[in-house]
Order: sequence, then structure tokens, then C-alpha cells
Amino acid sequence: MADVGWTEKAKFLVTGGAGFIGSHFAKRLVKDYPGARVVVLDKLTYAGNLDNLRELEKEDRFTFVRGDICDAEKVGEVMESCDVCVNFAAETHVDRSLGDASSFVLTDVYGTHVLLEAARRFGLKRFVQVSTDEVYGEILGDPVSEDSPLMPTNPYAASKAGGDRIAFSYYASFGVPVVITRCSNNYGSHQYPEKLFPLFITNVLEGKKLPVYGSGRNTRDWIHVEDHCSALEALMEAEGVEGLVFNIGSGNELSVLDIAEKILRLLDGSEGLIEHVTDRPAHDRRYALNTDRIRAKVDWASRIDFDQGLSDTVRWYRENRWWWEKIKSGETYRKYYEKMYDR
Ligand code: NAD
Ligand code: DAU
Repeated sequence: MADVGWTEKAKFLVTGGAGFIGSHFAKRLVKDYPGARVVVLDKLTYAGNLDNLRELEKEDRFTFVRGDICDAEKVGEVMESCDVCVNFAAETHVDRSLGDASSFVLTDVYGTHVLLEAARRFGLKRFVQVSTDEVYGEILGDPVSEDSPLMPTNPYAASKAGGDRIAFSYYASFGVPVVITRCSNNYGSHQYPEKLFPLFITNVLEGKKLPVYGSGRNTRDWIHVEDHCSALEALMEAEGVEGLVFNIGSGNELSVLDIAEKILRLLDGSEGLIEHVTDRPAHDRRYALNTDRIRAKVDWASRIDFDQGLSDTVRWYRENRWWWEKIKSGETYRKYYEKMYDR
């Protein structure tokens, strides 16, 4: 890892670290910073999963704490001894936010505020707010820069925009050393199987249909989770970036149908499995990011080739059925699936 200066012996707080991206990030921190300690604070909602952190169970530089980022007392206890906080904790699924947005507003806005208050009180050296490209809303023209207007179109994206701006306000008003990131769609191992990649891969493995919303022509910029994490590490360490927003993307723009076809090809599945279903309300047709700022400031670029990343990801789900079968066979997941798709 780079010459990390103050982060060398730091204590990192990773909120939401039992989820998909946060668990990849926590594992990277333990590996990349041999002198550092890592604490994960996670509520373990339906999306939080201790199986994602198994590799760290025996690591004495790692601690897991179960707790809610909306709980100021718990957050204070955990954050007091930390140097850096990277906030992944959030309700993250657009479709669920269209059903009931209350937990999104609570966690993604209020919870972020609770963390920032503690960061201010304890004088944290860096606070990274993991925001999303969804805050810009639909992007049909040129890829957007960080100064483009925020026009979120669904309650998840609007809640994340709230967290994103409350984080900026703590920098502007109180000088908390905040960095805000807006990444595009991640794919990789350990992703809860309600999101496109793990849902489609595991459905093919089970011989089930692939529910494509509407035409399936909606495009996203797909980035491998490890590329996202490497960008976050670079920004966590960088000097002179406080108060700035950074887009993180890889330029792999592909439609939902493109992804479905690639997955079917890798798994020898029949195209007959593709089933067009009712479209998602306010379904943004495209997201596309201009990433000049992160390239210029920290010389970061995504490295993982999309087809290689996809084939590794497909292999991981094929070889780790235990991980997703446990989730998919549970009552919480089955009820969700029935409500969403078996209408
Ligand atoms: P995820 O749903 O897999 O994980 C979220 C984690 O947060 C879970 O472990 C959950 O238990 C925890 N959590 C939820 N509410 C909490 C609370 N109140 N207190 C403590 N913990 C809580 O999500 P993910 O895909 O890993 O996303 C992580 C972060 O990255 C989110 O902030 C998301 O908005 C952002 N993001 C995700 C993507 C993507 O493509 N997945 C892209 C850009 C940004
Ligand atoms: O862009 C970043 C965002 O990416 C993150 O902020 C979110 O946390 C993350 O969930 C993701 O949001 P999306 O809505 O883009 O991801 P999802 O996997 O739900 O959907 C991706 C695309 O696939 C989208 O165009 C909708 C489509 N889709 C999704 C599902 C679950 C389908 O066509 N059918 C499906 O069953």
C-alpha cells in the first residue's frame, strides 16, 4: 500500500461493514494497513451478514459491534477512540424504498447526521461519506461532473442526497474533514441477491426466470466492488480533498439486457429465461459519470476489466452456493421475492 502517514496505525470505523461493499472494504483495510485496527459497526438489517466478515473472525485487530447509526449513545461509545470513519451504513435498495421509505430517511439522513455529530465532537481526522451516483437522477447527455445539480427521482436516492448534503454542511459549518464519494453500480461477490447481478446469476443457477424491468434498455456504469474500494482508500488518505465530492466510475456502460445476456452465456442458460416484467416507477434510464476529478487529484482509475470481473463474480456465486442459498431459502427473502415478482 502507499506511504500512508497518519493512517498507518489508525483506528478505522467502518459503518455498515457487514454489507456488500463495507465488508470488502473492511477486509482490504485489515490487509493493507498491518498496523491499523478496524471496527465495524452494523445494525445487521436483512442486508447485513456476518458471513461476509468470516475471514476476519480470528483477526485480533478487528472488532465487530452490533449497533444502529441512529443510536447516538452507541455511536459515541464506538467512535470516541477512532481516527477515521467511512460510512457505508444505509438502506440501499431502490425497490424497497418505493414500498416504504421510512427506514431510508431514518438511516440514510438522520443516521448520517448522528455519525457526523460524533465525528465533530471527537475530532475525527477524516470522515468519508459513501454517497451514490443516483443523487444526480437520470443522465441522458454528457457524463455529469460533481458540480451538476442533484435531481434524485426515488426515495432511496433522495435520502442519500440528504446524507450527502448533511455531510457537506458539517464540513462547511464546523470544519469536519469530510470527503463525499458518488460511485456508480457495484458488482462482485457477497452482494445481497435482490440486486441485479446476484439475483440474475443465482436465478440462472436455480433455473428461474430473469425479471427484466420494462424494456431492459436502461443502462448503468458497472464497476467492480474492489475498484470502488481502492478509490475509497485513495481518497481516505489523500491530502487537500476535504469538503470535495468525487465521482467514482469505470465507464463500463451496459444495459440490463446486455448483462442478462452475458450472464446467460457464461452459465449456458437459455435466453428463454429472460422475462420482461412491469417497469420500476421513476426508473432512471441512464447514469453516466465524469471522473476527471478523482483522476486528477489522486491518480485513480478503475483497473478490473468488466468481462474478467463478471466471469470471476459468476464463478464466486457458482462456488459459494452455501452463502446465497442460506439467504434465498430464508423467510425474509422468500416473502420479499413473492411480493416483488410473483404478483
Ligand atoms: P448493503 O445493503 O449490502 O449494506 C448496507 C449495510 O448497512 C448492511 O450491513 C446493513 O446491516 C447496514 N445498516 C443498514 N442500516 C443501518 C443502521 N441504521 N445502522 C448500522 N448499520 C446499518 O449495501 P451496499 O451495496 O454495500 O452499499 C453500501 C453503501 O454504498 C451504501 O451507503 C450505498 O448507498 C452506497 N453505494 C452503493 C452502491 C452499489 O452499487 N451497491 C453504489 C454507490 C454507493
Ligand atoms: O447507481 C448506484 C446504485 O446502484 C446504488 O446507490 C444502490 O445502492 C444500488 O442498489 C444500485 O441501484 P440500482 O437500482 O441501479 O440497482 P439494482 O441492482 O436494483 O438495479 C440495476 C438495474 O437493473 C436497474 O436498471 C433496474 C434493473 N433491474 C433490477 C432488478 C433487481 C431489473 O431489470 N430487474 C430486477 O429484478
